[in-house]
Amino acid sequence: MRSPMERGLGILAVLALLAAPAPAAQGDPKTGREFYNKWCVSCHGVGGKGDGPAAANLPVKPGNHADGTRMNILTDTYLFTIVKQGGPAVQKSQMMPPWGTQIKDQQIWDVIAYMRSLAVPPYKAPGRPPRLRRRPGAGEGRAPAERLTPAPAVR
Ligand code: HEC
Repeated sequence: MRSPMERGLGILAVLALLAAPAPAAQGDPKTGREFYNKWCVSCHGVGGKGDGPAAANLPVKPGNHADGTRMNILTDTYLFTIVKQGGPAVQKSQMMPPWGTQIKDQQIWDVIAYMRSLAVPPYKAPGRPPRLRRRPGAGEGRAPAERLTPAPAVR
C-alpha cells in the first residue's frame, strides 16, 4: 500500500511535468519575430543571417539562423539554454549574451519558433515516432535475440 505521502509525491511529479517549459511548437513565430528584431538582429542580422551591424566586430561570428542544415539538428532544449543562459552554458562563446533576466521563458519560445521558421531546408519538429505496423512476414529470417552476441560476463 502506498502511503498518502507517496501518493502526494506522485501527483507532484505529474504537476512538475505539466509545468515543464512549453516546447517551441507552442511559441508564436510572429511575436518571436518582433522580439528577434528588437534584441537579436544587432548581431544575428535581419532574417538571422549572422550579418548584423555588430557582428563585424565580434571575435566569434554568430552563425546563420536560416541555415537549416546547421540549425535543424539543434534541439529546442539547446536553443532555449543558449538564449536563456548565454553561450557559455552550452560551451559556446560568451559573445552570445544570456537573456534570462530580461526576457520571459514564453518570449524565448516565441523567438525559437521564429528561428525555426527561418530554416532552409525547413525544420520538422520531432513528433511521436510513426506507428510501426507489422507487415505479415516482416522480420522473418532475422536472428532471434538469443543468437545475437551475448553481453560480456561481469567479473
Ligand atoms: C552581442 C551579440 C549577440 C546578440 C545581441 C545575440 N547573439 Fe546569439 N550569438 C552571438 C554569437 C557571437 C553566437 C555564436 C557563439 C559561438 O558560436 O560560440 C551566438 C549564437 C547564438 C545561437 C546558437 C546557434 C548557433 O548559431 O550555433 C542562438 C540560438 C542565438 N545566438 C540566439 C540569439 C537570440 C534569440 C538572440 C536575441 C534574444 C541573440 N542570440 C542575441 C551573438 C549575439
